[in-house]
Amino acid sequence: MRVAVLASGRGSNFEAIARAFREGKINGEVAVLIVDNRKAGAIKRAERLGVNWLFVDPCSFPSREDYDRRVVSILKHLGVELVCLAGYMKVVSGVFVESFRNRILNIHPSLLPAFPGLRPHKKAVRYGVKVSGATVHVVDEGVDTGPIVIQVVVPVSPDETEESLSEKVLKWEHRIYPQAVKWFVDGRVRIEGRKVIVEGADYTRLPVVPALEDF
Ligand code: GRF
Repeated sequence: MRVAVLASGRGSNFEAIARAFREGKINGEVAVLIVDNRKAGAIKRAERLGVNWLFVDPCSFPSREDYDRRVVSILKHLGVELVCLAGYMKVVSGVFVESFRNRILNIHPSLLPAFPGLRPHKKAVRYGVKVSGATVHVVDEGVDTGPIVIQVVVPVSPDETEESLSEKVLKWEHRIYPQAVKWFVDGRVRIEGRKVIVEGADYTRLPVVPALEDF
């Protein structure tokens, strides 16, 4: 399957996904990395990994919808069937969601529905939660609201900071995101309303539900 990754920053999740394809753990390839920020660290990673990348400048479009129409047309042209948002700071419009219904994934570093939106680690630490984690979900019209594919739970210690929690969770992100992509690519995912079911997966154990199989 041909997959696209959309990123705005550092790009460590993009790299985890691209490496999983390159190592043959997932069938297919990352056809393109699209960035909305010319300074995104993800670009250097793409060059190192030999992945095609494209900067689509938000300033060249009058609206978010126009921007997304351009991105969608690029993705369709490249034969992309699955889109992975990875640290992509733009909220995708209805135009985008409609064009790739149930084929857009996002990773958010909290146990959704807790702490959607910006700076979830800061919110989690401030709130005093004892566990946090990360979620890969299908993207719908809301912000971090779509059906959940996989979650990982990590402990939060009394001296936890936004930075320490972010570091701890990120390590897991690099495993759960490629795993979720693989399940989609392998055609094992069924979506029934808010429920995402991965055929044959193990839903009985922590810290990752459903359990990791390949990562
Ligand atoms: C990750 O924590 C991801 O969950 C969030 O933004 C961060 C992006 O990191 N959406 P990177 O650009 O993938 O390194």
